[in-house]
Amino acid sequence: MAAPFSVTLAWTGASGMPYGVRLLEQLLRADVQVNLLVSSTAQIVARQEMDWTMPARADALQAELTERWPGLPGSLRVFGREEWFAPVASGSNPADAMVVCPCTMGSLAAIAHGMSDNLIERAADVTIKEQRKLILVPRETPFSVLHLENMLKLARMGVVILPPNPGFYHLPHTVDDLIDFVVARVLDQLQVPHQLMLRWGGD
Ligand SMILES: Cc1cc2nc3c(=O)[nH]c(=O)nc-3n(C[C@H](O)[C@H](O)[C@H](O)COP(=O)(O)O)c2cc1C
Repeated sequence: MAAPFSVTLAWTGASGMPYGVRLLEQLLRADVQVNLLVSSTAQIVARQEMDWTMPARADALQAELTERWPGLPGSLRVFGREEWFAPVASGSNPADAMVVCPCTMGSLAAIAHGMSDNLIERAADVTIKEQRKLILVPRETPFSVLHLENMLKLARMGVVILPPNPGFYHLPHTVDDLIDFVVARVLDQLQVPHQLMLRWGGD
């Protein structure tokens, strides 16, 4: 039997934590094996944007998120910031793909320059070197030349730069509709099936 499709999902401390949480839920719903990595600033943003005090310990966060969506077929493992024995730290055991959503300019710069100073940066470095799919959802406005140069550098390596820019042609009514637009684009890049929105020109 083939191994389940696996995705490393990193939440960093950019505005847009609801995108990251919705993406996690959709991956688990689609029976994906998810490795979740969370930066310390992402915890601050989650409290600010979602009124969610995220457990600081990886095992406690894993337990809370597993309880939040009971019965979803996917599996979840949460790893700490310096858990260097995590499979995602090594090219011998990378996930099939990695998404950083939301992605700060700081993490984007570190990934662009191969810093590998924490597990998120290392997992991204491994994903690039093993030529697996890496998707960044960078959030800042406006972008500086530095931000744009880092994004161009990454895009030239094959990294997908997918800014959270929802379209309005699907006539969104709620903030959730806007979130789903962006999450749907990420899932499409991963070729993970979803029912988040109708496709343009489809039934
Ligand atoms: C509420 C809040 C919102 C933030 N929004 C952004 C943002 O949209 N984009 C960004 O690049 N940084 C943002 N930051 C700053 C980053 O969190 C900060 O640069 C941090 O050091 C990034 O670390 P990380 O990439 O490890 O999460 C925000 C910080 C806070 C507290």
